[in-house]
Amino acid sequence: MNALVLGAGGQLGAELVQLLGRRAGVGHDKLSITDAGAVEDLIAARKPHVVFNCAAYNAVDRAEGERDLAYAVNAEGPKNVAVACRRHGVSFVHFSTNFVFDGKLAEPYVEADVASPLSVYGSSKLAGERHVLQAGAHVLVVRTAAVFGGPLSFPMRILERVRSGEKLRVVADQRVNPTYAHDLAAAALELAEQGTAGVVHAVAEGCCAWDELARATIAEAGLSVDVESIPTGAYPAAARRPPNGCLASSRFRALRPWREALHDALSSRQKP
Ligand SMILES: NC(=O)c1ccc[n+]([C@@H]2O[C@H](COP(=O)([O-])OP(=O)(O)OC[C@H]3O[C@@H](n4cnc5c(N)ncnc54)[C@H](OP(=O)(O)O)[C@@H]3O)[C@@H](O)[C@H]2O)c1
Repeated sequence: MNALVLGAGGQLGAELVQLLGRRAGVGHDKLSITDAGAVEDLIAARKPHVVFNCAAYNAVDRAEGERDLAYAVNAEGPKNVAVACRRHGVSFVHFSTNFVFDGKLAEPYVEADVASPLSVYGSSKLAGERHVLQAGAHVLVVRTAAVFGGPLSFPMRILERVRSGEKLRVVADQRVNPTYAHDLAAAALELAEQGTAGVVHAVAEGCCAWDELARATIAEAGLSVDVESIPTGAYPAAARRPPNGCLASSRFRALRPWREALHDALSSRQKP
């Protein structure tokens, strides 16, 4: 597949580059998706069949104070890519988030559920979805949740905190599908190869609260440390998050169960 991966240095971008080859990847150091002219030039020069946009501003709490930057990267940037893709007849795969929902439903959210974000991050990602679906000719938006695998992802940060002897207090009333970047990359490729368009949810099977994910991470790493379960209110954060951040899909299979994927992620990390 002649593909281009933007935001190639992030956790999902790096996994897609593993699957597609190094030439496919373009990192933030080489291109900012906020630069419409540079995006146009790159797509015109490379003439890919498909562009995967993994570039995003993901600092959920910081976004509350950096609204303009969050919108520039998560809304205007993807629009630049979608416009250039349409101009050159290129398929476009963009990624979005469970944070477009307010989390008030009792069951996992499917594609047709109404989005109503609680945070600047969620609103900027929803604006990005709308821009690309409007601007592009052949566009797929893959919504996902709680992506892990990269060194800064939740399980890896939990292990760092265990190693530094920090006491662990983790929220127990926000639920998500922890989704392994490696599995998500393979799913995105499969969806692109099938020519799927529109909005599709792609997440691991199963949903859990963050404290459960912390305990599973510690157990998978062969460690034994207490995790104190706390309510959201006991962990001050700038951004509001959906209590039910779980997704399901009416269009695509669930990825393998999160606990299996977590096991693999932690074992592959321990290899030399
Ligand atoms: N991480 C999650 O838990 C999660 C949950 C749901 C959905 N998602 C979505 O899944 C997708 C992939 O996320 P991820 O976890 O792989 O993100 P990530 O690891 O934070 O990677 C994002 C990448 O985008 C780059 N970037 C930032 N601004 C850019 C710009 N203006 N132009 C080009 N590149 C830029 C970053 O580079 P720098 O490091 O140099 O800034 C980084 O390499 C995103 O759309 C995200 O919103 C993620």
